Amino acid sequence: MISERMQQKLNEQIQKEFFSAYLYLSMETYFTSQNLSGFANFFRVQAQEERDHAMMFFNYVTHVGGKVKLGQIDEPKSDFESIEEVIRMSLEHEQFVTKSIYSIVDLALEEKDHKTNAFLQWFVTEQAEEESTAESNLNKVKLIGNDGRGILMLDAEMAQRVYSPPPAAQMK
Ligand code: FEO
Repeated sequence: MISERMQQKLNEQIQKEFFSAYLYLSMETYFTSQNLSGFANFFRVQAQEERDHAMMFFNYVTHVGGKVKLGQIDEPKSDFESIEEVIRMSLEHEQFVTKSIYSIVDLALEEKDHKTNAFLQWFVTEQAEEESTAESNLNKVKLIGNDGRGILMLDAEMAQRVYSPPPAAQMK
């Protein structure tokens, strides 16, 4: 069983992960409108992963006998003006999610809730990877600037990203 406070924080995280999927889908539409199908693919895959993250929290709350309460999902930004703006925002958003995950870990440690702490460790690792990828994307985009050939090369690289579902054990 989890505490009321923990249940609330986990429910808020479900909402944040679904919002992340929403935000990344919005980013996908920006790139589609710019004819950058590789970047669009990258964010579509990202959105799929975020839905998985939301469901992992959803399933965990249920699994430990808690009650899932779904909240309202805000409208994501959709009026992007440049590739760099989108990529920078994706990094800032991941940093925000990392802080959120850390705050749940802090609560788990405070409450000596080792089970939830163990569950959260997958997300700690995942966030480190996501921040690193977003940072690398931003560095490349800054380096390329307005060079059309560079943008197309990066678009081709982004097209290679393939969705891979999270470990089955996490999805129960
Ligand atoms: Fe599920 Fe990218 O945070």
